[in-house]
Amino acid sequence: MALRLGEAAPAPRPAGRPMSALAARIVRAEAERPAPLAPDDLAVMVARFASAGGRWRPYVRHDPHRRWYVRLAWTPRHEIWLLCWELGHTIDLHDHGTSAGAFVVTEGVLREEYVRGDDLHRVNLRPGAVQRFAAGHVHTVWNDGPGAATSIHAYSPPLHSMTYYTRDLSTGLQPTHVELVPKTAVP
Ligand SMILES: [Fe+2]
Repeated sequence: MALRLGEAAPAPRPAGRPMSALAARIVRAEAERPAPLAPDDLAVMVARFASAGGRWRPYVRHDPHRRWYVRLAWTPRHEIWLLCWELGHTIDLHDHGTSAGAFVVTEGVLREEYVRGDDLHRVNLRPGAVQRFAAGHVHTVWNDGPGAATSIHAYSPPLHSMTYYTRDLSTGLQPTHVELVPKTAVP
């Protein structure tokens, strides 16, 4: 607020209550949290990881009954997952909470549909194809052949939760449920 000449300055605010120890810890943790990586950085990361087969091939497991996945790396800043898709495996429409991400297909072919505005876009992802996205990306991914598929995914910050959605033309996206992502050990 600007003061006119001769106008009295407002009295200073009384000091607030001192911050509790818990609040101070939370503020400190926020300040120390590493800045998240950008989608382009994550795209480079998954491409590099994919080219080092020894880091992920030993963990490939194609289970006909369910999509198989394992966390391969975790830091406070990012994490990397391996996903193995048998024919017909899919994941419903979902987001990635506050995380940005990227993924690359290393074997087989995956299809992705993602929401952009009111539209749904579809892409076919063959080995070497890298997709990247900012937080807020809503998509579904599935394998309809011709064979099994494998992909490597990176997220930053590490996934904390994923919200699942239904979508139709009259109501748009409707959240159905939220899944928390547990902090599993890396192999
Ligand atoms: Fe996803």
